[in-house]
Amino acid sequence: MGTSPNSISENYLEGEISFYFNGKLLKAKQGQTIAAALMANGIKKLGVSRKLQQPRGLFCANGRCCSCFVSVNELDHVLSCMTLVEEGANIYSNDGDPDVRRKANGN
Ligand code: FES
Repeated sequence: MGTSPNSISENYLEGEISFYFNGKLLKAKQGQTIAAALMANGIKKLGVSRKLQQPRGLFCANGRCCSCFVSVNELDHVLSCMTLVEEGANIYSNDGDPDVRRKANGN
């Protein structure tokens, strides 16, 4: 049993998994949130604002601001900062209306 302050998170983040973001295959550590996994892969833009189409990303990182919405396995408006990434998950950025995007992309 570890005694360092980081021992719990170090043990929890073992094992590599794969997931897709906008159709691109990426790797993550098991136990990471979707937002953390995306940031670890260099992705900070999680979508665009509906009205002004400005980039949106991680803001509060605790589930309060809704700035980090993504679509996960066709479930829209998932808070990426509060949701753990899962093996094989299909995650899409929140670029505009999800229904319109699905029709345009065929997914
Ligand atoms: S970053 Fe604020 S809810 Fe996720």
